[in-house]
Amino acid sequence: MTDRGVLQLFICGAGPAKRVHELIALSHDGGLDVYCVATESAVEHFLDTDSLEQLTGHPVRTTYRRSGTTPTPQPDAVIVAPATYNTINKWAAGIADNYVLTQLAELMGLGVRIVVLPFVNQALASNLSFVRSVEALREAGVRVLLGPGEFEPHPHRTGDIALERYPWALALKSARG
Ligand SMILES: Cc1cc2nc3c(=O)[nH]c(=O)nc-3n(C[C@H](O)[C@H](O)[C@H](O)COP(=O)(O)O)c2cc1C
Repeated sequence: MTDRGVLQLFICGAGPAKRVHELIALSHDGGLDVYCVATESAVEHFLDTDSLEQLTGHPVRTTYRRSGTTPTPQPDAVIVAPATYNTINKWAAGIADNYVLTQLAELMGLGVRIVVLPFVNQALASNLSFVRSVEALREAGVRVLLGPGEFEPHPHRTGDIALERYPWALALKSARG
């Protein structure tokens, strides 16, 4: 992705969503234009959408746009962060029952570079369904930043500590290719 590129940021319902402005600031520093898309859970529990809209200069999308409003440009790259257990499993299974999942399915089919930064504890990450979902997404060409040297699932009930080392910069670097 070149400077002045378009980054689309998909935000799911987990703790790092509260700090997504950190990734947006890094992206702006790198000259990127950022468009946010959020799940219902992210909006309900974690996000201040007004301040994100001010920061990015664009609406936070949660559903399809109304006719007559400006479409989101085709992104040069996509980051899904934080990516939840729920969204990763549904996406890998081909479920598209919300706007985020539908968009991700389409973007994957279009061959857009997609980087996923999960935020899951070890209990969730050890579920066979999750292990298989990560594998399936990787097979499909999605870059999932999970595991040694990337981002390790944290022990149960230590999410607040894990938040401090959530590697926003690594996600951005991977999206740049
Ligand atoms: C306070 C709070 C913290 C949560 N933390 C996580 C988390 O760290 N990882 C995760 O996968 N889900 C977490 N969840 C659960 C998800 O929000 C839930 O599974 C939701 O259905 C996810 O929807 P989404 O994938 O559409 O964003 C949390 C929920 C709440 C309310």
